[in-house]
Amino acid sequence: MKKAKPFLKWAGGKTQLLEEISLKIPYKKNDRFIYVEPFVGSGAVLFWVLNHYPNLESVVINDINEDLINTYKVIKENCDFLVSILEKWEGEYHAIAGKQEVKKEYYHAKRSLFNTRKSDKVTQTALFIFLNKTCYNGLYRVNKKNKFNVPIGSYKKPMICDRENLKAVSHVLQKVEILNGDFEKTVDYAKEESFFYFDPPYKPLSKTSNFNSYAKDEFNDIEQIRLKEFCDSLNSMGCKWMLSNSDVKGENPEDNFFDDLFEKYQINRVMARRSINANSSKRGLLTELLIAN
Ligand SMILES: C[S@@+](CC[C@H](N)C(=O)[O-])C[C@H]1O[C@@H](n2cnc3c(N)ncnc32)[C@H](O)[C@@H]1O
Repeated sequence: MKKAKPFLKWAGGKTQLLEEISLKIPYKKNDRFIYVEPFVGSGAVLFWVLNHYPNLESVVINDINEDLINTYKVIKENCDFLVSILEKWEGEYHAIAGKQEVKKEYYHAKRSLFNTRKSDKVTQTALFIFLNKTCYNGLYRVNKKNKFNVPIGSYKKPMICDRENLKAVSHVLQKVEILNGDFEKTVDYAKEESFFYFDPPYKPLSKTSNFNSYAKDEFNDIEQIRLKEFCDSLNSMGCKWMLSNSDVKGENPEDNFFDDLFEKYQINRVMARRSINANSSKRGLLTELLIAN
């Protein structure tokens, strides 16, 4: 079977940083440990871990986004039915590829249906994946009423159903426990043999670069501090953890927000490439933080 990889486009996806992150995970290939990812998003690190460590004791993922977590659960439990819906819609969408107005209508009908949130779970998941593959840049953005409001993207014939990957994802998710809520919920899985990887919404580098609206609620500085306090409690329980965030000091040398907050831990700066950056002169030259205890 093919190796599972992320099945969504997701802002902050970690595929480009995987090498740096994987080098810093403090376990060897055959080690046994509990892997916990409280902000799973599209799961780039999750799938790497699942493919790389054959002896994991257990795996727990969480995210506050209910539509996203419903999608993980449906792929785990009802993959074949999901694939059949997506294949049908993919055929319909490709058949109208040259007719922009018809395509737009089709997209808007799916978006409205998604926003009613009244479909059965499998259809709701198919709608979520369809919108992710056909909307502008694969963005996920909702308004205050939790209505998805991203316009149609410009892809001609996007792949909507990657059947082989969905099957591979479903297969590896069989050993994963899937939670939906605030990151603190994962405290129940803090054991000495646990390893937590946190990839929270990044602190914006500037007031204009706010790409962290994944959900209705904002992840502001108070939340970043609450997360650090959560890391402190894990530390005192003897668990290992690692956390990614933006390097605000790289943008403004006087900004010591993370250096001060995490001063008693190891702060590594790693090179990162970001496609979403309004300032093209800075594209490709960013560092990010990888902090660990
Ligand atoms: C930077 S993304 C994670 C990216 C992910 N590592 C990937 O590879 O796609 C941050 C995630 O945190 C979730 N989130 C935001 N606030 C949260 C909270 N309080 N508790 C748990 N998850 C939260 C968002 O829904 C989003 O999926």
